[in-house]
Amino acid sequence: MRGDAPTHFENGTGASVIPPPSHFIEQDYSRYVERDHETWKTLYNRMIPFWERYANRHYLEGLARLQLHPGRVPRLEQVNGFLNPLTGFQARAVSGYIPAFEFFDCLRNRVFPTTIRVRPTDQLDYYPEPDIFHDVAGHVPMHTDRAFAEVLVRFGECAHEAARRRTDPQAIASNIRAMARFFWFTVEFGLMRTPQGIKAYGSGLLSSHGELEHSIESPAVQRYPLQLEWAINQGFEIDHYQPLLFTVESFDALYEEVGRLIVWMREGKLDNVALGEPEINARDIESFFGTADHRL
Ligand SMILES: [Fe+2]
Repeated sequence: MRGDAPTHFENGTGASVIPPPSHFIEQDYSRYVERDHETWKTLYNRMIPFWERYANRHYLEGLARLQLHPGRVPRLEQVNGFLNPLTGFQARAVSGYIPAFEFFDCLRNRVFPTTIRVRPTDQLDYYPEPDIFHDVAGHVPMHTDRAFAEVLVRFGECAHEAARRRTDPQAIASNIRAMARFFWFTVEFGLMRTPQGIKAYGSGLLSSHGELEHSIESPAVQRYPLQLEWAINQGFEIDHYQPLLFTVESFDALYEEVGRLIVWMREGKLDNVALGEPEINARDIESFFGTADHRL
């Protein structure tokens, strides 16, 4: 894993640090071909009736405010023109995987690392990697909501707390696993209990044609009020519909829960969470040791 890790350099004090991340790329819009726009159009239009029925109102308001074109791949610059004045968030293009600390640190700085690739036409229903539809249609509308935006920033603060504590790699791996699980069961697959019934706010649901309805209607899905101690110890698999989902009452309540996650982290309660998915790789662990110093 060391081979593809960032290169260390001396900072003049003898301490080894890693240069700031350069994960960001330009979205070269001219590289999208007609097939990409067709794919976006198909994905977007078939979601509309499901969004109207199952998405939480903050998402629907956000979708309207971003003015995404139903027939064209979005330009991030345009999206940011609507998004940034609302919450300070911006979507910035990346080519793919970002080590865990860098990812959360971006959220702390109100930057959302955004995949710009369009999924292949033969994988419209399920594509295991994030793509621009998942990231822009699934995540970004939520970033227009002030309370939700604060939740994301607090996840970033949580990562900084883990980097500050830096004990040993195994404990860090456990802290990352706890954060990743909590993020998964909320930001990616969260449900909200509302007076109009259960609605989705998780981007994995909001970008999935099949799973959005399933997550709310299917008797096969277990839905429980979010419990921190459960979520951080609960493994998950990404390649099938989620059998277990957690509900929150509000984003303010979720914000408080991320605050509790930070307190637990400080108290060492995340150093030994249950083993299992997700696996934490060496680059994720290194990112907490190497890059934190100069940005804490
Ligand atoms: Fe996501």
